[in-house]
Amino acid sequence: MNNCVAKTYIAPELPDITRKILPELVDNLADESRLLSLSAQFRPQEDFPHAPHCYSRSILLHADSGAEVMIARWDQGAITPIHGHPQFAFVYVLQGQLQMQHYRDTDQGLVLTETIIKHEGQHIYSAGIAGRYDNAIHRVTALTPSLSLHVYSEDALKGKFFT
Ligand SMILES: [Fe+2]
Repeated sequence: MNNCVAKTYIAPELPDITRKILPELVDNLADESRLLSLSAQFRPQEDFPHAPHCYSRSILLHADSGAEVMIARWDQGAITPIHGHPQFAFVYVLQGQLQMQHYRDTDQGLVLTETIIKHEGQHIYSAGIAGRYDNAIHRVTALTPSLSLHVYSEDALKGKFFT
């Protein structure tokens, strides 16, 4: 039974060097390699909230376009519902190990297509269909305590939830 309901927080003031990267991340949502090089410069120095058996979401930037940059802090074993995303979604592992289970939505229901593990410095990226919220359907499980940087073209909570 997954009782994890993530809470969302406004992030505290960030160091200048980190804050300057945020609008660049949003402006480069269509450019995977640029997102990756920007994320590699990211130095989280803040103590993002712990969420026992779950994960916390700290919003670093909410752009006028609706795009957002968010940090998730994961407790070991935290697991998300199966969910979809807006058009662009980028997730970069800053610390720890995240397991990603990807699904395809079929007439017979969801089908698991792959299970991958992403380590520190690795990422996933999806460029999907604008105006839809069922792009890149997946479930994330934190295999260790983890920290990840997320960039989405819209509020990620608009993503479709399947469970
Ligand atoms: Fe996701």
